[in-house]
Amino acid sequence: MMTMADRQRQILADMGIDVWLLRDNTGAAGASVSAEVSKSAASGISTTATAKELERPADSDAVTALTLLQNEVKNCRLCDLSKSRTQTVFGTGTAQAELLLIGEAPGAEEDRQGKPFVGKAGKLLDAMLFAIGFDRSQVFICNVLKCRPPNNRDPKPEEVEACAPFLTAQIDTVKPKVILALGRFAAHRLLKTEAPVYKMREARNVLPGTDIPVVVTYHPASLLRNPEQKAQAWQDLCRVHQLLESPLI
Ligand code: URA
Repeated sequence: MMTMADRQRQILADMGIDVWLLRDNTGAAGASVSAEVSKSAASGISTTATAKELERPADSDAVTALTLLQNEVKNCRLCDLSKSRTQTVFGTGTAQAELLLIGEAPGAEEDRQGKPFVGKAGKLLDAMLFAIGFDRSQVFICNVLKCRPPNNRDPKPEEVEACAPFLTAQIDTVKPKVILALGRFAAHRLLKTEAPVYKMREARNVLPGTDIPVVVTYHPASLLRNPEQKAQAWQDLCRVHQLLESPLI
């Protein structure tokens, strides 16, 4: 039977980051990722780590606030996406999450199911979360837009603006210790910048007006298209993990 450690190792391998694990153990040369990645992995998260209990005590006010907000989103007609959507995609997870993940917008599958990240990119996101010891019930996942843009086109600025109060309310309610911005749309919205993802990844960002760290990483759909970015995404996940352990890092 596959143990938890075996499964985590398998997931790491699927993410393309088995290379530095081998190198750390054997000193094998020729790894395709940088020494820096190797170092952060070695000093970062053990693949045998078990899922952590990071949820805060239940806060019924936050649960109620999210439920009310979800209802508002459901009835929202602030932009034209309300005409083409099958349903709104509010977000899922716990109101007590220490980690809030923010993506771009629902795709076709999310529009059908009413949940964020349930397609192929979502499967990869689950694996990424699992690699740092979380499952979906321990975090909160949502998007900048709560409705699907037709044909998966990019969100329009006016749609992002119309949806912004919902995202702000979600952040204010969940009060996460760390935000992980998945891709450029989430990062641009949160950090009020137009910088490219690679620059935002390297910066020590905080959500403007707060001391909440915002870690920027590649969108899982981008990782599926560009698997060579996975090693960098792993670095970003290690940073999230470090920040949750010790917010002052
Ligand atoms: N991509 C996103 O940004 N969000 C989803 O929910 C699904 C795919």
